[in-house]
Amino acid sequence: MEELNASIDLDRRYYDVDIKGSIAHVTMLGEQGIVTEEEAAAIREGLEKIRKMIENDEIEFSTRLEDIHMTVETYLIKEIGDVGKKLHTGRSRNDQVALDTRLFMKKELGEIYEEIRTLLNVILKKAEEYKSEIMIGFTHLQHAQPVTIGFHLMAYFQMFKRDLERIEDCLKRIDYNPLGAGALAGTTVNINRHRTTELLGFSNITENAMDSVSDKDFVLEFLSDAAICIMHLSRFSEEFIIWNSQEFGYIDIDDAYCTGSSIMPQKKNPDIAELIRGKTGRVYGNLMTMLTVMKGTPLAYNKDFQEDKAALFDSLDTLRICVKVFAKMLENTEFKTEEISKHLGKGFLAATDIAEHMVKQNVPFREAHEIVGNMVKYCENNNMGLEDIKEENYPEISEKLTANMIPELSARACVDRRVSYGGTAVSDVERQIEAGKKYMA
Ligand code: ARG
Repeated sequence: MEELNASIDLDRRYYDVDIKGSIAHVTMLGEQGIVTEEEAAAIREGLEKIRKMIENDEIEFSTRLEDIHMTVETYLIKEIGDVGKKLHTGRSRNDQVALDTRLFMKKELGEIYEEIRTLLNVILKKAEEYKSEIMIGFTHLQHAQPVTIGFHLMAYFQMFKRDLERIEDCLKRIDYNPLGAGALAGTTVNINRHRTTELLGFSNITENAMDSVSDKDFVLEFLSDAAICIMHLSRFSEEFIIWNSQEFGYIDIDDAYCTGSSIMPQKKNPDIAELIRGKTGRVYGNLMTMLTVMKGTPLAYNKDFQEDKAALFDSLDTLRICVKVFAKMLENTEFKTEEISKHLGKGFLAATDIAEHMVKQNVPFREAHEIVGNMVKYCENNNMGLEDIKEENYPEISEKLTANMIPELSARACVDRRVSYGGTAVSDVERQIEAGKKYMA
């Protein structure tokens, strides 16, 4: 029973916020005359002492005391005697754990927020470095149109910027004080919830006691945000793995972020990227875990809720380290631009440009699409590139094809022409980078 019932192995991480919450609570109790000022001071002092004892490893966490709330209170009473028994006046472990979760998440999400910011800054730096270097842009992992490396990187900037904003938004809904909700219905004791809201630095107060002890949507919201963010990281990681392969050879990841093989001496494996891609599974799993834990629970508190810790802590820890290490790896990766440019000749990358050039000469787009399709087929049959087609062979391809229909075909020219807002032209990539910098500032 004890082993199943206890949450101390996980929620011991709440010790600091639990003590902060208790200090605010007892301060308010003193101000309200519910305990004397002397008693409040003694309890505060006792709590500070417990904090030190925990930090000095002088407290034994045991399943016998079930969770962090019981552990702190029990040790408090042991340290300061009977006066400690007054701490729990006008509250319940139900509002206490709701408070701890919110305080803890506020701090943790603040730190993850900073890690995502660091990643965004690294992306900006790299995008700037490679803003005009050209690589192949893919759809269906097939050669599509040339883009700049900076442009490709700035696509990720947008994704992680939204992830950052999701965390910011989640923090808004975390920032509500549930303390004083009691077990579920409020309390008969003359507490002042607005005062603890102020003491604990919350911007808002929860409106309904029953909701305050039942609500896990802020946890679910973070678990969703984490799942989306690590999905983005996983896609970026997958590209790293592809780019790092011998077939592509696009990037050189610093040795510090790769591992070797115990048997094959030539190996330089992109383990970080693979691990992040793999860890995406557990972060998705944590979201499903909590959605499932919550789905059938009647109001108000149920012990099922205790299960939130494993899922929450795991997603917090996993997301944080993945964002942090990925940013470092990206910062220490070079794009092998010479190698990358060798691939540019291969995939008929200028095909769309020819069709759009024809459009400018009043050829309807569908017709242009067909003519260029024939050009590609002709090149494939004759093992040549689009730029190798001779004018004398045009009639074989289409009777409508004339020399003025073919624009300059280099990848550089293709990139330079894409000046539409948000396009890959260097001028627009520069604009995107500037906007990104302004956002970060
Ligand atoms: N350890 C519990 C949890 O995490 C604290 C709340 C316990 N409340 C109760 N009524 N048993 O949910």
